[in-house]
Amino acid sequence: MQDRVRKAVFPVAGLGTRFLPATKAIPKEVLPLVDRPLIQYAIDEARAAGIDEFIFVTAKGKSALEDYFDSAPEIERSLREKGKTDLLKALEPSEMPSGAIAYVRQQEALGLGHAVWCARRLIADEPFAVVLPDDVIEADTPCLAQMVEAYAEYRGAIVAAMEVPKDQIKSYGVLDVEADHGSVVKMKGMVEKPDPDKAPSNLAVIGRYILPPSVLDNLSQMKRGAGGEIQLTDAIADEIEAGRPVHGFRFAGRRFDCGSKQGYLQATVAFALARPDLAGEFADFLASTVEYARAAQ
Ligand code: G1P
Repeated sequence: MQDRVRKAVFPVAGLGTRFLPATKAIPKEVLPLVDRPLIQYAIDEARAAGIDEFIFVTAKGKSALEDYFDSAPEIERSLREKGKTDLLKALEPSEMPSGAIAYVRQQEALGLGHAVWCARRLIADEPFAVVLPDDVIEADTPCLAQMVEAYAEYRGAIVAAMEVPKDQIKSYGVLDVEADHGSVVKMKGMVEKPDPDKAPSNLAVIGRYILPPSVLDNLSQMKRGAGGEIQLTDAIADEIEAGRPVHGFRFAGRRFDCGSKQGYLQATVAFALARPDLAGEFADFLASTVEYARAAQ
């Protein structure tokens, strides 16, 4: 079996209803943080982890995503003619070698597990990553690269994990911890969207996974879980049942839930403040706006 993690699956079939009406006409994955679409951050993170095959699980209405990673000869010609080399450079991250991205459609919204299962033929018999582009992680070493390093030592399945407040636990997959070694946690179970009073811990799964191909076999059983959906969490829990190793990984970094308005706004501010070309003026603006809003209260 291929040992290196070369492939990543990006489930991008969701409707993005939390961002209506904007997402009536554009996929949520192309909403920008500053000037780059959310999907660009996910792709960059995967590339930094050594991934060179990208599998998008899409749905109807997502063609803007395919266009985004296509070449743009008209724009490039115009920029070249005008000598705008800085803008030409800005286009580079969205350029993909031919054949590096494959698209597969999920015809029915049957859950995250089902979306990943739709990519099974493209993944074939090797370990793979799953990246949920809604979860944007700001980190010195990109989160997936941290996980690939942990994978080299622990093998099996590895899921990114983070402590969340009790009242939010029902939005996540939750880890049942067997042994806590700090950044790496050995798991004895995993539950999708538990009742807060029954949750096995407050350690939640964040949208980064490294998974063995046996997870695809587990998904083939098409078991319905939380919300009547085919859950990735359940297929990973089946790995534990089968006696294979599953670990949680407390990554170093700051995660933004860009599937929510609050998280998206916070990420916009954080990423703008991290940009040397924008930070100074933007920080002044924020400070004066907050002061003004407080005074008006
Ligand atoms: C998905 C997963 C869940 C995970 C979450 C992280 O849930 O099913 O286990 O904790 O992503 O963002 P969703 O946000 O699609 O409901």
